[in-house]
Amino acid sequence: MFILNTKGTTYCFEITKSGHLEHLYYGKKIHPDAAALREKDYVAPGNTITYDSSIKEMTLEYKRLEFSSYGKGDIREPFIEVINPDGSLTSDFLFKDAVISKGKPDLEILPSSYDEKGDTEHLCVILKDEGYNLTLELHYYVFEDCDVITRNARFINDSKETVILKRLLSTQLDFISDKLSFTTFNGAWANEMNKNTATVNGGKIINSSNIGASSNRSNPFVMIHAVDAAEDYGKCYGINLIYSGNHYECFERTSHSLYRFVSGINPCGFSFEITPGSDFVSPESVMTFSDKGFNGMSLNMHEFVREHIVRGNWKKKERPVLLNSWEACYFDLNEKKMLKLAKEAKDVGAELFVMDDGWFGNRDDDTKALGDWDENLKKLPGGLSGLGRKIKALGLDFGIWVEPEMVNTCSSLYYLHPDWTLEIPSHKHSEGRNQRVLDLSKSEVCDFIIEKMSSVFSSAEISYVKWDMNRIFSDAYSQGFDKNRQQEIPHRYMLGLYRVMKTLTERFPDILFEGCASGGNRFDLGILCYFPQIWASDNTDASCRAAIQTGYSYGYPQSTISAHVSNCPNHQTLRNTSIETRFNIAAFGILGYELNLCDISDAEKEAIAAQIAVYKANRALLQFGHFYRGAINENEFEWTVADADSNRAVGLKFIRLKRANDGLKYYHARGLLENARYHFTNRVTPINVKIFGDLVNSIAPVHVKQGSIMHDVVSRIVKFSTEKDDGYFYGDMLMEAGYLMKQDFVGTGFTEGMRVFTDFGSAMYFIEREDV
Ligand code: DGJ
Repeated sequence: MFILNTKGTTYCFEITKSGHLEHLYYGKKIHPDAAALREKDYVAPGNTITYDSSIKEMTLEYKRLEFSSYGKGDIREPFIEVINPDGSLTSDFLFKDAVISKGKPDLEILPSSYDEKGDTEHLCVILKDEGYNLTLELHYYVFEDCDVITRNARFINDSKETVILKRLLSTQLDFISDKLSFTTFNGAWANEMNKNTATVNGGKIINSSNIGASSNRSNPFVMIHAVDAAEDYGKCYGINLIYSGNHYECFERTSHSLYRFVSGINPCGFSFEITPGSDFVSPESVMTFSDKGFNGMSLNMHEFVREHIVRGNWKKKERPVLLNSWEACYFDLNEKKMLKLAKEAKDVGAELFVMDDGWFGNRDDDTKALGDWDENLKKLPGGLSGLGRKIKALGLDFGIWVEPEMVNTCSSLYYLHPDWTLEIPSHKHSEGRNQRVLDLSKSEVCDFIIEKMSSVFSSAEISYVKWDMNRIFSDAYSQGFDKNRQQEIPHRYMLGLYRVMKTLTERFPDILFEGCASGGNRFDLGILCYFPQIWASDNTDASCRAAIQTGYSYGYPQSTISAHVSNCPNHQTLRNTSIETRFNIAAFGILGYELNLCDISDAEKEAIAAQIAVYKANRALLQFGHFYRGAINENEFEWTVADADSNRAVGLKFIRLKRANDGLKYYHARGLLENARYHFTNRVTPINVKIFGDLVNSIAPVHVKQGSIMHDVVSRIVKFSTEKDDGYFYGDMLMEAGYLMKQDFVGTGFTEGMRVFTDFGSAMYFIEREDV
């Protein structure tokens, strides 16, 4: 029996008489015994295949397996599918050997987890299909401290003939259970990470992407859990894939209560020719388990991502507060505008100025110039270096936007290299955002990107790069590549991209790279192996962001989730939310601002300066603390970030729509020590009297017409503040009973001190241990 133990979990399997690997258990840590855990069969049930007539009870269809191949009686989702030299699709991999070693090797051409301390244990199980002389290696890596086990597979063609790999997945988990739910995170552009839960009673649910990126449609992170699991209780498995391309997660249930989960590269549109002596390595899959609900699971995942995925100089470094030019001026930028914006950014306390799209070639809109990465000297007379120097002189770091994987047909690059794109020669191309995908399966294209980007990044004092990717694949055909092997292209593209990202991040270790793909179209662990943070969504609306960031939080820590405060009405929803709520929500990620600071009121500028000061004072906690979701429903959100020692925490209560006379509202903290006393306060901010509209007349000595100059004057003179909370409370009470928030404005009069939540109201709480 193979037993893989982490601090709190056990994973085990054994070799059957037939040489298969029977999965025995994955869950809370136990003292496993195969005699109790293994299936005790005597005969094959009717209408099933007996694998070997000398082992009458051996029916692969009814076994929990570590991996499954096609054609020998297991009719569920296979883990591997091979077209053998004789055309047969049947595989029969049986146990040969196992090797245990220490340390976490890199997967080399693919991004993978790492372990600086070298504590990780590695189990490699070697299986052989003797009939065709093919080898399959299953690799398991045990990250004891964060309760994570990762898996991947390697297929080796030891035969003398070429075979076609139709699928090689990364993990398979078989369970026997009465009922399990499957949660996926689905969406679209500007509407990422909606949590969807289904209870699978029969058949299959598939979560997958075939758009060339991990996608905003179906993130590769999924959960399998007890039907009644919730944030703080219940058994929950979290599974993710270290891959940024087409992926596949399938959850299946047979009528015998056997559940199977598989995950890996999407077999749809995939096949790979494996010549004699060569191999194929599948991406690494990440698995964790907690019996403490979704929060327990996500704490493990977050720790794993922070410690074993994100790397480099920025791994633990506090990320700067930035101002991004995109929603401030879109393509209409020039040096003068940038400097004006940057000066305002400096005044409010930002640390980094980012010039987004529009600075190169004749890029005045999204129809042209992608690929022509030379500064537009009309817009930037001093070039990137001149602007960079001036930004630096203001006391800010300087960053830029690039989209290196793409080209507009209206560009010099396309003119010079029309064969460098993914497209089918002499067939009409289906466009996306007026641009085409460069063919990163070609090494000369990758080399061009590496050299061009290297010269851009070293042409000025660039501290930050936003790496965008704004279209999905169509007509994904590599010009000049073997016509019979075009199904290799999406994966070959990823391998090319990873080489580019690795080389550039190693060449420029001090640059803070932020991934982006129309927002969250490629938010995954593959990207995070190179770029420590990702722009989570093009949607900056605070109300939408509360849900989007909640969605991400199940699988990804706050240090990876970039979030901006933008202007109102919001550019994606036309919704108005207060500047404070916009901050309160963005603060639980990597905070940035993305609005024209030159055009906003002094009061808003003051508010932003105060926000940035608060963020900086709590930045380490907000970016790297332990994140917990409290009670969350369509209308209300509760988040808490606590430090590892439970000495400090910051909390959020956000209520989307206000209802009159809505009764009592609580904020429940998380991550505190039950028996410690905490100083509990909130962030007090100014209230503009204008929110009361013409109710101002109920206190004004003269009549004030709403929207009049007089209304303005009154709003500048009459100063109200939000409610003030201040007390000393025990952790158990704050977590169990919660803090009963002050009475909200109910329409029967306002008294200073009461809470005034309009629609999209929010409060931020600070919780500090008394005795430290
Ligand atoms: C899409 C990104 O998500 C935006 O933030 C912005 O950078 C635009 N691309 C620029 O074209």
